[in-house]
Amino acid sequence: MAGVHADDQPASASNHIKNVAVVGAAGGQGSYITAELLNTGQHNVTAITRLESTSTFPNGVSIAKVDYDEHNSLTDAMRGQDALIITMNARAPQESVTKLVEAAIDANVPWILPNEWGYDYTDPDVNRDTMLGDSQLAIRKLIESKTTKTAWIAVACGFWYDYSLAAGVSTFGFDFENKKVTFYNDGTAKVYCSTLPYVGQAVAKLLSLPISADRAGNERPCLEEYRNSIFRVHAFHISQEDMLSSVLRVTGGKEGDWTIRHVTPEARYVEGKKMFEQRDMIGYRVMLYSRYFYPSLPVKELEDYSDARLGLNQPSLDEVTKLAVDKAMEK
Ligand SMILES: NC(=O)c1ccc[n+]([C@@H]2O[C@H](COP(=O)([O-])OP(=O)(O)OC[C@H]3O[C@@H](n4cnc5c(N)ncnc54)[C@H](OP(=O)(O)O)[C@@H]3O)[C@@H](O)[C@H]2O)c1
Repeated sequence: MAGVHADDQPASASNHIKNVAVVGAAGGQGSYITAELLNTGQHNVTAITRLESTSTFPNGVSIAKVDYDEHNSLTDAMRGQDALIITMNARAPQESVTKLVEAAIDANVPWILPNEWGYDYTDPDVNRDTMLGDSQLAIRKLIESKTTKTAWIAVACGFWYDYSLAAGVSTFGFDFENKKVTFYNDGTAKVYCSTLPYVGQAVAKLLSLPISADRAGNERPCLEEYRNSIFRVHAFHISQEDMLSSVLRVTGGKEGDWTIRHVTPEARYVEGKKMFEQRDMIGYRVMLYSRYFYPSLPVKELEDYSDARLGLNQPSLDEVTKLAVDKAMEK
């Protein structure tokens, strides 16, 4: 690993991140990250929140209200922060993310976790088909092109299994009420998934690592390893068939009770695209999820994932499935 060794730093310089700003600290992903950061007892968390926001934050979180149209408002909120984590609503204007990143660079925030939280954006065909990659890669490039004082770490956690399973037919294909499921091909293609709490845990562990390696030559992980690179984590590597087995275990049903439809992911992608072109936003979800089930999708090896290296606690698949099924049935 290239970079600065902790022993080269002045004695007063800390080798750990302390001040963390979170955008979306009350949101779907950000709330779990915030809770886990507070739990470490090592981090001061500041919620960066819009002037007009009605979000509320847990005790112990400092609040910085910002005006996205005022650069100084953003830089003031970032000054003194060691890391900026962006978990912003997917429909928020992309320029708001750019503004945050530019402000963080101007305020010399050393680490940014951009608004990614999904795929690793390494495959240009997938990036094109999901219409996501270009904007994500542009943010990474913006940081690299402007400074060496700020680095990005892209958290690639795959699908949120809890959120996605509960979302129903448009994602992993499950219609719990009517006991129907749409499998991509034979339902055995595996995808990497995390859960919202798991990603919270992963980010808190990541930002609790020593920034630089020590000189002892040990193999302990440090944050510098992830400078301008991808931090891959996953709780599960599972197929739709595995998901259905878990659903059957937690609901006490049997496979014969379910109607299984088979469709190629390519055909499902086209269905989703048509819906999206007719302004049905669910169609976008169908496009997005089906695209990751193409047999041609390049698959990363397990050793590219940091879960074991960081000692993350794996959740129980069936416990998460149970929560997701209950949530879906409440809707
Ligand atoms: N891996 C997966 O399966 C998966 C699934 C869904 C989403 N994602 C990704 O995860 C990221 C975060 O999603 P999330 O569900 O956690 O977000 P979210 O809860 O919907 O929103 C997070 C925060 O965004 C802020 N926000 C909302 N509208 C905004 C606007 N117009 N302008 C600026 N800020 C706005 C709000 O913060 P304040 O009120 O405090 O300002 C909100 O709490 C997104 O990039 C999304 O694409 C991943």
